Amino acid sequence: MKGLPGFRDFYPEPIPTADSWSMDLRRYIFDTWRGTAERYGFREYDGPPIEELGLYTKKSGDEIVGQLYNFNDKGDRGVSLRPEMTPTLARMAASHSRNYKKPIKWFSIPQLFRYERQQKGRLREHFQLNADIIGEENQAADAELIALLIDTLRDLKLTNDDFVVRLSSRLAWQDFFENSDGQEKDAYDFYQIIDKLDREDPAVSGEKLAEIGFSIDQVNDFIESGQATDELAAIIGNIEARGLGNFIEIDYRIIRGLAYYTGPVYEAFDKRGKFRAIAGGGRYDHLVKLVSGGKTDLPALGFGMGDVVLAELLKEHDLVPALGQTLDAFVQIADESLRDASLCLVQQLRQAGLTTEYPLLKAKQEKQFKRALELKAKWLVTLDNANQVHVKNLGTRKELTVPLIEVASALQD
Ligand code: HAM
Repeated sequence: MKGLPGFRDFYPEPIPTADSWSMDLRRYIFDTWRGTAERYGFREYDGPPIEELGLYTKKSGDEIVGQLYNFNDKGDRGVSLRPEMTPTLARMAASHSRNYKKPIKWFSIPQLFRYERQQKGRLREHFQLNADIIGEENQAADAELIALLIDTLRDLKLTNDDFVVRLSSRLAWQDFFENSDGQEKDAYDFYQIIDKLDREDPAVSGEKLAEIGFSIDQVNDFIESGQATDELAAIIGNIEARGLGNFIEIDYRIIRGLAYYTGPVYEAFDKRGKFRAIAGGGRYDHLVKLVSGGKTDLPALGFGMGDVVLAELLKEHDLVPALGQTLDAFVQIADESLRDASLCLVQQLRQAGLTTEYPLLKAKQEKQFKRALELKAKWLVTLDNANQVHVKNLGTRKELTVPLIEVASALQD
């Protein structure tokens, strides 16, 4: 049987085929995400992978609602696998915000599910780094998140030749919409058309805009003007002060598909324009209030960075580090009468924190040696007798004999 379309199997290295997904690469990405977020003072949280359907239909927007993996559970509750993390975070923050000092800086690495048409960079399941700040309305918080986004990609060895953060503003678009006599009822459709301008045939976008009273030229003129609002100028100033100014530019083509954004919004793209967005986010100051039924009102903002486009990008730029198993020690059992004593040695090494392997069953010595090399063991360890161990460094070929009780510390040195 095969897995479902759009769902991945992750294999340990060496991966079976060139297009298999690597569990080691996934761990490398997650470790980097976690490391950078923690360096920025963010704390990790998690929530359930299934939520009440209403959490998403409330404010995520039609596009995501059309992609939900939803069903009725055995208690006849309408539920859905999570398509994004933000509504869960808003729900969690609303329930216990009093227990945490503001601003709350949290991150998570959820697996998300969207019933999307499968295409390059888009699957039906993906992981996202989500980093969000709750309880701060100043643009310093928007800049802090954008800096984190940039540094996360830099920690993966991407440079400003490889990617750029395109910054825009829902408020600027809202002013444009209102000053051009847009009707409130058309606002969501308008944002959707702008969000798809890059991907849609210009004639189709033009027709859709005309239906709600806008011309494509008028929209293009606004995009090309590229004027920074005060809010965006403050963010850019803050990013420049960190020496990261060359990673960011104003681009009003960005508006974000999700319905809940209220202020500055941004997406990160590869500079060659070959891939879909690497990350996207912005401010969503009304979501916590909406999700809590008006009980808690807190400004909030954040971004999501997906693992699918990121892995493709790292491969394209040759930035995947050497991956795969490495062992500290391979305990060879040359004499089966010493198997029990060797097991005791294996245990001793593992307890000392050394990654250690050994043959589960009787095997020829050459086979054991070959296995030690395949597993990239640093040391080949063999019991000579009940008290004495022979160790060989498989890299330098250096050999030594040590008393059994000293072997772990000898290998650590
Ligand atoms: P999003 O733009 O829908 O935002 O997703 C963020 C990133 O996740 C995208 O830029 C992309 O890299 C990745 N992504 C999204 N859908 C897929 C898919 N089907 N397959 C592979 N990768 C995908 C959000 O989800 C917001 N909730 C982010 C956010 C957090 N905003 C504020 N806080």
